[in-house]
Amino acid sequence: MNYKMARTKVVGIVIILLFALSVVWFWPVYSEVQAMKAPNYEQGVHKGALFCAQCHRGIYDEWSTRSLHAVATTGASFKDYLGKFKNNYLLNTFITDDVCYACHGEKANADGVSCEVCHGTIIANVPIMETHRIKYKPGLKTLREEDFCAKCHDLRSPLSQDDIFSVQGEWRDSHAAAKGKTCQSCHMKKVAGGFSYHGFDSAHRDVAIYKNDVKIQIESLAFPRFSLEIANQITGHALPPSGPTRVMVLEITFLDKNGEEQHRAQETFGKKYKLMPFAGLFPNRLIKNTQLQSGEVRLLNFTLPASLEGKIDKAVATLRFYGVSDEHQGDIKHAHWISEPILTEKFAF
Ligand code: HEC
Ligand code: HEC
Ligand code: HEC
Ligand code: HEC
Ligand code: HEC
Repeated sequence: MNYKMARTKVVGIVIILLFALSVVWFWPVYSEVQAMKAPNYEQGVHKGALFCAQCHRGIYDEWSTRSLHAVATTGASFKDYLGKFKNNYLLNTFITDDVCYACHGEKANADGVSCEVCHGTIIANVPIMETHRIKYKPGLKTLREEDFCAKCHDLRSPLSQDDIFSVQGEWRDSHAAAKGKTCQSCHMKKVAGGFSYHGFDSAHRDVAIYKNDVKIQIESLAFPRFSLEIANQITGHALPPSGPTRVMVLEITFLDKNGEEQHRAQETFGKKYKLMPFAGLFPNRLIKNTQLQSGEVRLLNFTLPASLEGKIDKAVATLRFYGVSDEHQGDIKHAHWISEPILTEKFAF
């Protein structure tokens, strides 16, 4: 065997080995991606929320006026991010937009996470009351289980396995979980008429829902130091909950006697990721987490410039949510949504 043939053989073996290695490495990722794309509901047979509204009007009204579930396939931020995803050659080849509809609801119906997405299908050609008997009665059992919401409110990166949405994980480590309180026991309490609340309240629609959930108080105030405590009083999960899209920001302005701003400080709470290798856009590896965990009280310290000695009269702290598309990773300059203040506190110096 001459030198050239031997070299060809070695190169051939290396190529085969590399191929085998990439199959071994990619197979779990491939299976993971396939699982991500499988919808969490039956397709092609849904009658739509308005159909159910004929008899369940109260539930329909709560769902359609309060919840983001109702606009999960039609909302502006969904369409915007979906567009970017479809224009991303690498992501759209390997993952495809099926993955989005797996959680956001049927593409064809476009009524988001609607009644049947959670409650199952009306079996074709079977009268409605009969389907209620055979399909829905047993169906409620699954809906009451503690990991029902996690079908969609939990997502891991297929590459890094890091949590992207992690409300279920946050909940599992919480005081509420230890006491057996599920997502449903807090978010779907019984309302008048004996029905479970279906508003799935969102700060996008009403920021007042956070009224009793976060507290700020001065810890010490000795110039030039200013310390305060911020407490997440939600015992069921972190604040802000879930993934990288939602950022909570505490902004403090320091004012002089004339009410003029002399200084500004800022603290950000949320999750930051490295994006997918090569493809970008999609969160992959968690690199920083400053969420306030369930029940956490955190001390924040600020030091004011020495030049402001004797000049500061009061501080105004404001807490807001910012919605930031995943590829901007918490950069609030790119926010597509800024909430009204969740809380405003004034402190005299
Ligand atoms: C023709 C009227 C009618 C329509 C249309 C209708 N329902 Fe019902 N549904 C009822 C009645 C009546 C009950 C029993 C009420 C009760 O137990 O309080 C019921 C009960 C239910 C229950 C509770 C079952 C249980 O085990 O307690 C669910 C869930 C439900 N419906 C979902 C739906 C969904 C989803 C749709 C739309 C696909 C729908 N319904 C359409 C009349 C209707
Ligand atoms: C079929 C998937 C699916 C299931 C099951 C599901 N959700 Fe959702 N949920 C979503 C999606 C998707 C959104 C985001 C919609 C959007 O902003 O476009 C959402 C949004 C929400 C929001 C508002 C979040 C925000 O950022 O404003 C709340 C609260 C919520 N869900 C609670 C629940 C609870 C509680 C359960 C279980 C009883 C549940 N969801 C089950 C898919 C689901
Ligand atoms: C595992 C289920 C799941 C998958 C897959 C998924 N989403 Fe979501 N999405 C959610 C949930 C749940 C929320 C609610 C916010 C949260 O929990 O962070 C959400 C929130 C969003 C938001 C933020 C809405 C806002 O204004 O705050 C956008 C935009 C979005 N999704 C777009 C997409 C697109 C595009 C895809 C496909 C690339 C996708 N999602 C895939 C479950 C999912
Ligand atoms: C995000 C998932 C989700 C969506 C969307 C949803 N439901 Fe429900 N629904 C549930 C869960 C979970 C329960 C059981 C709550 C419990 O008993 O703790 C439930 C219970 C019910 C019940 C039983 C009676 C009650 O209120 O406890 C009816 C009826 C019902 N839903 C109808 C509807 C209709 C109609 C729609 C659409 C307008 C709808 N649901 C949308 C999750 C959902
Ligand atoms: C101990 C009660 C409790 C439990 C358990 C709980 N939550 Fe919450 N959650 C809250 C409170 C309180 C808020 C603040 C907004 C409100 O009042 O609805 C909130 C907010 C949220 C939000 C953000 C809504 C927005 O737009 O800002 C989402 C999403 C959410 N919860 C999902 C879940 C899911 C999914 C589970 C289960 C894994 C769960 N929660 C368990 C009490 C709870």
